Amino acid sequence: MATTMPNLDEQLLIGGTWTDATGGARFDVTDPGSGATVGSVPNATQADVTAAIDAAAAALPGWRSTPALQRARILRKSADLMRERAVEIATCMTSEQGKPLAEAKGEVEYAASFFEWFAGEAERVYGQVVSPMNTNNRVLVLRQPVGVVAAITPWNFPAAMMTRKLGPAMAAGCTSVVKPASATPLTAALVLRCIEDAGAPAGVVNLVTSRDAGMVANTIFTDARVKKISFTGSTEIGKDLIRASAHQVKRLSLELGGHAPYIIFEDADLDEAIEGLIASKYRNAGQTCVCANRAYVQRSIYDDFLARLVKRVSEMPVGHGLTEGTVIGPMINEAAVEKADEHVQDALAKGAKLAYGGHRLTEGEYANGAYYEPTVIDGVTPDMLIHHEETFGPVAGLTAFDTEDEVIALANSSEYGLASYFHTKDYARLLRVAERLEYGIVGANAGIISAANVPFGGVKESGYGREGGSVGIDEYLDVKYVLIGAVGTV
Ligand code: SIN
Repeated sequence: MATTMPNLDEQLLIGGTWTDATGGARFDVTDPGSGATVGSVPNATQADVTAAIDAAAAALPGWRSTPALQRARILRKSADLMRERAVEIATCMTSEQGKPLAEAKGEVEYAASFFEWFAGEAERVYGQVVSPMNTNNRVLVLRQPVGVVAAITPWNFPAAMMTRKLGPAMAAGCTSVVKPASATPLTAALVLRCIEDAGAPAGVVNLVTSRDAGMVANTIFTDARVKKISFTGSTEIGKDLIRASAHQVKRLSLELGGHAPYIIFEDADLDEAIEGLIASKYRNAGQTCVCANRAYVQRSIYDDFLARLVKRVSEMPVGHGLTEGTVIGPMINEAAVEKADEHVQDALAKGAKLAYGGHRLTEGEYANGAYYEPTVIDGVTPDMLIHHEETFGPVAGLTAFDTEDEVIALANSSEYGLASYFHTKDYARLLRVAERLEYGIVGANAGIISAANVPFGGVKESGYGREGGSVGIDEYLDVKYVLIGAVGTV
């Protein structure tokens, strides 16, 4: 391995103090590539979660009245510190999450870019002066921070999904309680240390790590001081949160599951399309919400495309994320491997052919990790699990199609609506298809669509709200209008 991860024991961050859980319970964090313990964190109790909300509520008046320029400065400094500590954070991320070190470094940069982007947005939160209906009145529209925010973040992007929430929250003047996934809490702690060292006042960001996600959610949803929850995770949990939010009518942003179609028309640049599909499908071992889950290839180029894809996939080394040259790291755990394998076996049982891979890796260097071969399946049909359930693994399933109408109908035949992709050189078709795809994100001749400056989010059962872009900060602002009567006319 190129780099090694020192054992890292972290703490909760509550009101500017790093602390253990009340009662002192902790849990271990495991390297999915080797089974080794990489560190531990406190197992927060309900009292700890409430203390974190207390701290966020206490910090709110000071933070929301801090000038935007000062908040922006702290965000920019946080980004600088993340970059300075990129190797340390990325090594930690690879050790607890599994992704290859180069991808982890890329994620640290991606995560830092949200702080930078929202520093700019903090400086440009404008209200309005509206023409009154009655000339004696004046109308102001104010945009004010929603208050205390809870950020519930996933394991697949332990840094970026957190900064994508904390960046706009801090920029808007909100204070936050972060609950990272229990598989990847160490990266979260390292990022929060950057924010703290950048000068964020005590209580602006608070960290609770816990194995009891239900208890944390329940505490957050029943505390009237928490005004908004931003969640990235499965559609199933997202639906539970929608139900839980009804009790106090809490604001929610939900970035949920996806099932992205990846369409390759016969007029596409095939080299670009293959690289795009590979980037979309196999990044993070297929564990992203925007991963291609169904590749549709026009029949006239299908065999050629399949052969070229298989050749490229066969060249991708599988290994521990800290081993030089690894392209496909371990999956997050054994259950994830089982799900990927279930989708492969189901497709083969229903008539698809295995074009490449299709096996767990369990011998030698793979013995103690959660590894699955990058896989290509030929001849996927709509009755197969892989065609409608999120695989979240390094498995590409290909389906041949004949016409544009047919493929649009197939692509839209999903309850999910997060990301979609297609390749064509015909610009009339490009606009037509982009408009007809029922997804929040469309990559046209592009397999990687994520960035801080774009509105990321889905439609249908992929959730609501947008993260990033110029609209990302709106999720953390309330709109208030003020009617000033009896001013008179000028
Ligand atoms: C996700 O998988 O939820 C996000 C992926 C990204 O931001 O690229």
